[in-house]
Amino acid sequence: MKSRNVSVVFCLLALALGSSTGWCQPSGITVDVSHPGAKISPLLYGIFFEEINHAGDGGLYAELIRNRSFAEKTTEGWSLETTGAASASMALDTSKPLNDANKTALRVEISRADRDGTAAVINEGYWGIALEKGERYELSFYARATGLNGTLEARLQGPDGKVYGAQTISGIGSEWKRYAASFESSGTEPKARLALVASAPGTIWLDTVSLFPAKTWKGRPNGMRPNLAQMLADLKPGFMRFPGGCYVEGGDYLRNAFRWKTTVTDIADRPGHLNDTWGYYSTDGLGFHEYLQLAEDLGAEPLFTVNVGMAHRESEPMERMNMWVQDALDAIEYANGPVTTKWGALRAQNGHPAPFNLKYIEIGNENGGPNYEARYPLFYKAIKDKYPNITLIANTLVKSPMDIVDNHIYSSPEQMRDATSTYDSWDRAGKPKVFVGEYANNNGVGTGNLKGALSEAAYMIGFERNADVVLMASYAPLFYNVDDHRWPVNLIGYDSAHVFGTPSYWVQWLFAHNRGDVVLPINLQVEKDKIAVAADRGGISLGTMNSQAEFKDVKVSSGAQVLYFSNFSTGASEWRTYNGTWATQDGVYKQTAPDWLARASVGSDDWQDYSLTVKARKTAGDGPVSISVRTGLRPGRGGVVMLNLGGTAGTLASFDRWALGEMKSMGSVPGTLELNRWYDIRIDVTGPHAQVFIDGKPAIDVPNFYREMTLSHLEATASLVQTSGEVIIKVVNFTEQPQTTSIKPDGASGIESEGTETVLTSASLEDENSIEQPRKVAPVTNNVSGLGPQFTRTFAPRSLTVLRLKTVKTSVAARQ
Ligand code: AHR
Repeated sequence: MKSRNVSVVFCLLALALGSSTGWCQPSGITVDVSHPGAKISPLLYGIFFEEINHAGDGGLYAELIRNRSFAEKTTEGWSLETTGAASASMALDTSKPLNDANKTALRVEISRADRDGTAAVINEGYWGIALEKGERYELSFYARATGLNGTLEARLQGPDGKVYGAQTISGIGSEWKRYAASFESSGTEPKARLALVASAPGTIWLDTVSLFPAKTWKGRPNGMRPNLAQMLADLKPGFMRFPGGCYVEGGDYLRNAFRWKTTVTDIADRPGHLNDTWGYYSTDGLGFHEYLQLAEDLGAEPLFTVNVGMAHRESEPMERMNMWVQDALDAIEYANGPVTTKWGALRAQNGHPAPFNLKYIEIGNENGGPNYEARYPLFYKAIKDKYPNITLIANTLVKSPMDIVDNHIYSSPEQMRDATSTYDSWDRAGKPKVFVGEYANNNGVGTGNLKGALSEAAYMIGFERNADVVLMASYAPLFYNVDDHRWPVNLIGYDSAHVFGTPSYWVQWLFAHNRGDVVLPINLQVEKDKIAVAADRGGISLGTMNSQAEFKDVKVSSGAQVLYFSNFSTGASEWRTYNGTWATQDGVYKQTAPDWLARASVGSDDWQDYSLTVKARKTAGDGPVSISVRTGLRPGRGGVVMLNLGGTAGTLASFDRWALGEMKSMGSVPGTLELNRWYDIRIDVTGPHAQVFIDGKPAIDVPNFYREMTLSHLEATASLVQTSGEVIIKVVNFTEQPQTTSIKPDGASGIESEGTETVLTSASLEDENSIEQPRKVAPVTNNVSGLGPQFTRTFAPRSLTVLRLKTVKTSVAARQ
C-alpha cells in the first residue's frame, strides 16, 4: 500500500467567510531529492491508435482518394460532371473484377463527349484533397475500357475548376492494367479534387484509384501524412498500441474484425473491411506492416492487440478458436520471424527483412466475463510456449497467468482528479503491473478543453507517483478528422490540410518531454474541497449479469408527465442494446443470452427527476438482474447507479453505485429473488435521493447516492533525471487563483538559482484549440531565477507547470 503524502492546509478565515479560496496560508511542496523512489518506465507515455473518426483513412494514412476500391459497394466520394452536350452515367460493376479480393469496380458509360463537351469522374478525397504548390502527387489506377480512344485526362483541380496539374493517360485497353501519372501542383488548394476526364464516347471501368503525396512521413511508400505523423513523433511515444479498440473486435460481429493477414498484400489486393463500430469502411491500406513500420519510425515499441475470438455480440465457439490463436502466432512470426519462415519471408518481400521486434501483445480489447476467461488462456499458453519473451497483456484481472493488466477510464474532470489516487492503494503483492491503455475526459469538457486536460494531468501524476505499478499509459482516442467527428473528445484534430493538438495533447507532450528516470518522494501541503458529483441526469437501462431476464410495462414519469411508456406490443426499436439477445414477445422484453453483461437503454440525457416502474423477472443464471436510473450517454460523472435484484445470497435487492471499478451498495433489502416470479419495481429519483419500492412496499431508501470527493487544489509530482541530476517538478493548479507555493527540494547537492518553467494555461477552463486557433492553449517555456534550497513560486490559475531545477550535478555535467 502506497499513499500520497498530502496535508490539508486549514483556511479558517476563508471558511468563516464561506469561501475556500484566496484566504489560505501558502501551499507547500517538499521534495526528498536524496531518497529516489521507483524507476519510471521509459515506456510510460505511449500512444493508442484506433481507426476511428477517420484516424487512418482520411487521416494519418496519406492516401488522398476516398473509396478508392469501391469495396464499400457505394460510389461515396465519387461523382460525375459533364460540360457542354456531353452525357454519362456511372454504376458499380462486378461483372469482371480486378481480382478476387477486389470484386467491385466503377463502370462509367460516356454516351456523348467530345473536346467541347467532356465527361469527368470526380473524387473529392476526404473532404477535399490538399495540394501544396510545388509538391508532387503520384496517381495510379487500374482501368479497362472500350471506346474513348483509350484516352483520359487526369486533372488535379480546385472546387472552382481551376487546374493545378494535368496528365494524359492513353492506351487504355480492354483488359485490366495499372496506369500511373505524376503531377507537380502549380498552387496550394486544401479542397482540390481529382478529375478523370473523357472527351470521347465509350465505357471505362476503374478500380484502386490512388493518389499519394510524393512526400510521405520518412519517405515510406504507402506511408503516412507528414504533418499528422510529426504530431505523434513530437510526443516521443514509448510504445504504440494498435489497431484499436472496438475496431479490433469488429464491433458487434466477428466478421468485421481486423484480420491482419488481409492487410499485408499490395493495396489492390486488400479487400478492406467494414469498420462497423465507427461507421465507415476501412481500406486496410494502413495494414499490419504499415503499423509496424510506423512504430519503428516513431521509435516506439509496437503493441499489437489481437482479437480474442470475441465481438460485442458474439464469441467464437471454443472448437473454432484455433483459427484466432494461429492468427496471433502468425502475426508474431510476420513481425519477428526469420526470413526463412513463411510469414517472415512475406515481411522481407514487403520491404523489411529485419525483424520488427514486436514484444507486446494484448489479448483482446475490453473483453471480460466467462467467455474471456475461457479464451484468454488459449492465447497465453500458445504464445508463451512459442515466444516466451513476449509480454502478454490481459483486458481485466483473470484467473489465468498474466503479465500486465490493461485498465481503461473515460470520465469527467472531477472523477479523473479523484482517480489520481487509484494506484496508491494497488495491491502490489497480489496484482500484476498496469497498462492504462485508454484514458480521457469526455464528459463535460466540450470537444477537449483545458479543464479536461488539467484533470488528466492530475491522473497522470498518479502514474508517476506509482511508477512501480503503472508501466505504460496511453490517452484515447488519438485522432479525429473534424469533418467526421464521431467520438466526442480526442487528442489531435485535423482537416485535409491542417492539424492541431487539443489541450490534452499538450499535457501528453509535457509529460513525455519531462519524464525523469526515478520518482522523488513529495510532500504536499494544500487546500482541499469536498464536492458532490452526481449521476444527475439520464435515461434508464435494463440489464443482466450472467443471468437472463424478462421485463414488461416500463413507465417513466415526472409528476403528471409521462416521459416514456411501453408495453412492448410494437417491439423495442427505440432501445439501444449492448450484448445479450434482446427480443419482444407477447408484450415482454426478453434477454435470453447467458452473457456476462447485457444491457438495453432508453430515454434521454435530459431526464432528471422521475419515477420508473417496471415488472421484472429472472428466468435463468446465477447473477443479478439490473435496473439502472440516470444512465447518461456516457455515465461517469458520479458513476452508474442501479438496483440489482438477486445479486448476492441473502439479498433480495441492493441499490448500488458503480464507479472507478468499484461497486458500492448504498442500501439493500434481505431476502431471496425467486426465479420466474414477476416483481413490481418502482424507483423514484429526486436530486440525490432514491427510493425503491418492491411489490408496492417501500424497500430501500437512499438519501444521497451522489459521490462525494475530496479534491486537492494542487496536485504535484517530482522526478529526477539521473544522468544530469535535474529535478523535475510538475504542478497542476485547478483553482481560478494564483497559488503561491513554497518549494523545498530537500537533500539536493546545491540547487542553481536559474532553471526553466513551462506553463500550460489559458484565460478560461473552457478554452479549446481548433483549426482556426491551433495554439490557443499551448505551453510556454521561460527561464526563471530565484530558485534554491527553498524558494517560492506562484502557479498560474488553471495551469500545469513544469519546473526544471538544475542541481550542482547538472552544472558539472554541463561543464564537462
Ligand atoms: O477509444 C474509443 C473506444 O473506447 C475504444 O474503441 C474502446 O476500446 C473503448 O470502449
